[in-house]
Amino acid sequence: ANSSADDINLWKNSTLNKILQRGELRVGMEPGYMPFEMKDKKGRIIGYDVDMAKKMAKEMGVKLKLVPTAWDGIIAGLLTNKYDIIMSGMTITQQRNLKINFADPYVVVGQTIMIRKELAGKIKSAADLDKPEYTVVSKLGVTGEIATRKFFKNAKIITFETESDAVSEVLNGKADGVVYDQPYNIVFMSDKGKDKLVHLDTPLTYEPLGWAIRKGDPDFLNWLNNFLRQMKGDKVVDFHGKLNEKWLRD
Ligand code: ARG
Repeated sequence: ANSSADDINLWKNSTLNKILQRGELRVGMEPGYMPFEMKDKKGRIIGYDVDMAKKMAKEMGVKLKLVPTAWDGIIAGLLTNKYDIIMSGMTITQQRNLKINFADPYVVVGQTIMIRKELAGKIKSAADLDKPEYTVVSKLGVTGEIATRKFFKNAKIITFETESDAVSEVLNGKADGVVYDQPYNIVFMSDKGKDKLVHLDTPLTYEPLGWAIRKGDPDFLNWLNNFLRQMKGDKVVDFHGKLNEKWLRD
């Protein structure tokens, strides 16, 4: 059991304590993942995670600083203390969880496929698309890439640095399908993908999304999980309710 001196040290070193001392919460995220974090026409970062981060900072009584970060290196940035928390639609995978801790999931999503409209009817599932004559794209280093490699053993696979580059490839007919998180695909279909792509919207995977922090910080984790429980109870976090109304209007 911990002695009370250990507990005091734990709290002294807690990221939560440091946030309070600093008067600022620093949140790492990669904008581009609709509707969780993306840029509006004026270049401001908006989205579901941003709303949650604002609420979080408000409850802590501190200022909020968003730290835009490339996906590649987003975990390294947390480990080297460039920010206090990752709020970036990150799937809780067992491999990531070996390096970082996650608060409880705030929503569960899955990978879905958007295909060229011309293939509608002919392609109804991942298996239909898994043929050598087809090219499937995804984004490097995300769970979409993992699912693509798992479900496509015969099709050609190409990965891109950003989700928008991957989707563009299908829009301009250079690839046949793109595998990515269902919420992104829903938003995309309601806008740029309309009349151009077809959404095979049955999820291929089970993916809880969670906010990530450094390991060894029970005080911060406890605060986050209780904050999240309250947000859920107050229906602020409600993927099929308010989130849907605000960010997934279609
Ligand atoms: N859920 C997927 C993953 O964790 C994609 C998240 C991408 N997030 C972002 N902000 N670009 O791999």
